[in-house]
Amino acid sequence: MFKNSFDFLVIGSGIAGLNFALQASEYGTVAIVTKKELMESNSNYAQGGIAAVLDKMDSFDKHIEDTMKAGCHLNDKEAVEIMIKEAPNQIKRLIDVGVGFSKKQDELCLSKEGGHSERRIAHAHDTTGKEIERALIHQVRHHKRITIFESHVAFKLAESKDAIDRVSTPRQCIGAFVLDTDNNKILNFSAKATILATGGAGQVYERNSNPKIATGDGVAMAYKARAEIKDMEFIQFHPTALNKKGAPSLLISETVRGEGGVLVNSKGEQFMKNYHELKDLAPRDIVARAILEEMKHGTVYLDIRHKGSAYIKKRFPYLYENLWWHDIKMDKDLIPISPAAHFICGGIHTDLDGRTNIPGLFAFGEVAHTGVHGANRLASNSLLECMVFSGRAVDATKTYIEKEKSWKVGKL
Ligand code: SIN
Repeated sequence: MFKNSFDFLVIGSGIAGLNFALQASEYGTVAIVTKKELMESNSNYAQGGIAAVLDKMDSFDKHIEDTMKAGCHLNDKEAVEIMIKEAPNQIKRLIDVGVGFSKKQDELCLSKEGGHSERRIAHAHDTTGKEIERALIHQVRHHKRITIFESHVAFKLAESKDAIDRVSTPRQCIGAFVLDTDNNKILNFSAKATILATGGAGQVYERNSNPKIATGDGVAMAYKARAEIKDMEFIQFHPTALNKKGAPSLLISETVRGEGGVLVNSKGEQFMKNYHELKDLAPRDIVARAILEEMKHGTVYLDIRHKGSAYIKKRFPYLYENLWWHDIKMDKDLIPISPAAHFICGGIHTDLDGRTNIPGLFAFGEVAHTGVHGANRLASNSLLECMVFSGRAVDATKTYIEKEKSWKVGKL
């Protein structure tokens, strides 16, 4: 069996995994194991953006309150405060690593999305996740201490054999077993710190907005190793995924409503005023439920035609092109939509520095549960979560590997 030893083993190549890998590489060798290509992740499909208090009219208190309200106040307040106060620094860091956010005369363009009381979504047109991934991948690919393993699927965590009580004490995690899908070989990766940054599990649902790789295997591996898992019932449904026979459930970004798009029912009525004072920009769970109610009487549509062709093509180039392939012109046609599974608010329970209850195992991003989202995530807080908590885990993993003198190669 192929054996390979690293200081840090990062499973998953979304924004959380890449951001961690880049920072951790200052302290040791890093392996990134990813199911497909480096670029294929939930982050890559995030259209909306990354929320941060960047405008004079805005405040941390407002962003915190919006996040808690969307989460039905089931959020961990400390996690929320940490994430939101860190957000402006993270935008600065992303600009420093080369992310090209949309700007007007040197100022960041800020969008609004559901549940936000102010404009605070920094974005790169309608492909923000892809642009952040591009910039981080560029750095990662050129880093001497980072080794990338594409087409490698981690399927089991490696555990040390020295736990005293198998029933109540999880064993130390010392790496993972990985299938090299190109060569059909099982490989043994040993690591001083193992990091799960495997993203979500949308594929569990027939209608979902996630890529094919979002199958929940991070949570499954951690669960089998007896990690603590929390709040898995809090699945977020995005209100607006394309609903056309024969077409995929393409995510139609909430920023379409943030920029003036409205939901209409089969009679052509704008119905959200009947459900919430924020109308089309109410939190996602409320909009999704309202759409389902209206769908009892016929198809529900998103309408942004009034913004005009030039604006739509410039602001939403990705959506314009992708809808065009399905014979829908955003500037001329109503877009048929319905809710689709989008995001897991629960996951592997961690502290605020990515530590799980298993020594040597860390997690952050969508696979993790810090409690930051409560029962329902506020729009564009997910890329932010990835950046903030992956950055915080660097110190925790570094301290762990410095303290941990004995670590062994796991056996199947
Ligand atoms: C969207 O653009 O609506 C998705 C982004 C997010 O889930 O926050």
